[in-house]
Amino acid sequence: VPLYLGIDVGGTNIKSGVVDDKGNVVGRSSVPTEPANGPERGVAQMVLAAERAMQQAEVSIDQITAVGLATPGTMDIPAGMLLDPQNLPGWHNFPVRQKFAEAIGRPTILQNDANAAAYGEYWAGSASEADSVVFFTLGTGLGGGIIVDDTIVQGEHSHGSELGHTIIEMDNGRLCKTGQYGTLEAYCSATALIKRFHEAMEAGRHSSVSDRMDDVTALSPLLMAEEAEKGDELSIELILEMARCLGTATTSICHVIDPTIVLLGGAMTFGRHETKIGRRFLEVVREEFQRRAFPVLAESIKIDYAELGGNAGFIGAAGCARRAFMRDLL
Ligand code: BGC
Ligand code: NA
Repeated sequence: VPLYLGIDVGGTNIKSGVVDDKGNVVGRSSVPTEPANGPERGVAQMVLAAERAMQQAEVSIDQITAVGLATPGTMDIPAGMLLDPQNLPGWHNFPVRQKFAEAIGRPTILQNDANAAAYGEYWAGSASEADSVVFFTLGTGLGGGIIVDDTIVQGEHSHGSELGHTIIEMDNGRLCKTGQYGTLEAYCSATALIKRFHEAMEAGRHSSVSDRMDDVTALSPLLMAEEAEKGDELSIELILEMARCLGTATTSICHVIDPTIVLLGGAMTFGRHETKIGRRFLEVVREEFQRRAFPVLAESIKIDYAELGGNAGFIGAAGCARRAFMRDLL
């Protein structure tokens, strides 16, 4: 059976998995990215993640057909280069694909992390029945991936599907880490949620979240989701405001793509269908979309949580490597 390795490089952790020809995970691992130690050290961590995943799968590197690396933008996908990834500060103009391929000794492709996750859901997850998918990944940043007729929409300059940087507020928009104002990511990401919480505290609002914060427990979306679940009004308000922004952006993108399905993935999905706040979050995204979209789209486009969870990125990266191999592109 052909096997592939997928590696998903995040701002905090590198997740890796050995994936078979059908998208099943046969071994996985997670190691810290240590972004502050620079990209060369990052490559060493990627290799470590790969080795641990292979160990768990009980396979050796010569059983791996190809490797897919997934990283956050900005990047040059065909050249295998990181340009200026905001979530990996200092990893500037770095030829990550070449460096990793040299270290591991197998053909390697590069893809955007959110594009890879979208491809994972399309290949082996919630969207395997769909012809076209719009995928949002909610985390530190807001990633986007679009697949139309079996093609990842990566564009001429590698930044197609950058849904986090679509503009949802024309004037007086919130500041994004890129220096732009009014981007979706400035409203809809862990960073945005935390900023909004601090602003509300400064404005004299109260929240049970503050009672749980001390020197060691930092404010996190997880903490807010837990308190929202218990009825904390401020957490509920801020989380659902995020859902409204996401529903609005979904409307725009659906009028561009008209996909079969829109999927929400990533670490910040509030317990998904398992919690009240997770269910409410999804309902508000849907309500906002239904209120704003062409009726024919509102009635037919499905919006749901994605099912592969934190594995989507490396499964999709492995899937992209497989796809390149099958098309003789390695
Ligand atoms: C980056 C994307 C990335 C996303 C999630 C965004 O800020 O621009 O390239 O997919 O964060 O990591
Ligand atoms: Na993307």
